[in-house]
Amino acid sequence: MIPPFTAALPSEEIGVVLAAAERILRSGHFVLGPHTEALEAAVAAMAGTRYAIAVNSGATALEIIYRTLDLRGRTVLVPTNTNYATAAAALAAGARVELYDAGLYPGMADLEHRLTAEVGAVVVVHIGGYISPDLPAIMAWCQRAGVPLIEDAAHAHGSTLADRPAGGLGYAGAFSFFATKVVTTGEGGVITTDDPDLDAMARLYRNQGKDNHGRHVVTGGSWRMTELGAALGTTQLDHLDRDLDRRRAVIDRYSGTLSGPALTFPALHGQVSGHKVIALLTPGIDRKQLRDKVFAAGVELARGVYEQPLHTQPVFSALNAADRFSVADDFADRHLCLPLWRGMTDDMVTRVIDTLTTCLER
Ligand SMILES: Cc1ncc(COP(=O)(O)O)c(C=O)c1O
Repeated sequence: MIPPFTAALPSEEIGVVLAAAERILRSGHFVLGPHTEALEAAVAAMAGTRYAIAVNSGATALEIIYRTLDLRGRTVLVPTNTNYATAAAALAAGARVELYDAGLYPGMADLEHRLTAEVGAVVVVHIGGYISPDLPAIMAWCQRAGVPLIEDAAHAHGSTLADRPAGGLGYAGAFSFFATKVVTTGEGGVITTDDPDLDAMARLYRNQGKDNHGRHVVTGGSWRMTELGAALGTTQLDHLDRDLDRRRAVIDRYSGTLSGPALTFPALHGQVSGHKVIALLTPGIDRKQLRDKVFAAGVELARGVYEQPLHTQPVFSALNAADRFSVADDFADRHLCLPLWRGMTDDMVTRVIDTLTTCLER
């Protein structure tokens, strides 16, 4: 069976991580040490930002950004097509969340209409690692309104738009390093920004709100990344470009061979991260039936991003979930994520292509 993806490390990387793990275990230095600093330097270079601050999850990265902006009682515009954490972290920071329509990309008319004086921040999510070609327009709207733009870059390690990297396009970026992501630390997250105040506040927040004199000055948490996690992450970041090239080559093969009347692939406006390869089924094709057929033939398709947008989630029923989100609903119903990971072989890609071609013809 070809799985949707695997996060398993190749043997040569396992050796590097184990050697680092041994050094960490012998040093007894488990948090806020040289591996965390090295990971932060690598992520700042990847995002093209002055600062990168490692924390214990992508959700925490978002919450620290929201808290630093002090959005208590203010509205944060969050796309309905995203992970639970994008909205939940804003609620945890005391903000009001208003959902806006979004599929792979933000629904521009709906977002513009919601950008009122009550809005304290706008979040965009680079779904699957695809950055919206409309981002420059959204940046201009936010600038005009004096509202910070936050990038939820959980899927977008190394993604670019016109050569500008994800995480460096807005006021701040929040990357996830969870087990399923392009680079993983097991659990982990990183904030990227050019703002020295956010850098300083994030370092306080992640360490129980403690300043350099050991005084608790803000209500932070135990939100540090572990040194073991950071060592795992830096091992992958050391050859990120090579791994992204591999992911992009697989995506090119899929789109080059499978594009047709039944399946279309989004046009690329920069480099994708290859967290997901997304394709859209032509209306009328039954996705569940196709998935079952493909599965019976030995290929498992991943769950979508996302098949149940936030406006359909019970926990968010008190938000503006009664609004209509037609862009999100259409995307949720029609998209597919094909198998993809950095160690995928050419033979496996061929098997996926042949299987899908046959199943779409039948
Ligand atoms: C778009 C998006 N935002 C935020 C998160 C939260 O990241 P984490 O799971 O590291 O808390 C995730 C992932 O899981 C995500 O996919």
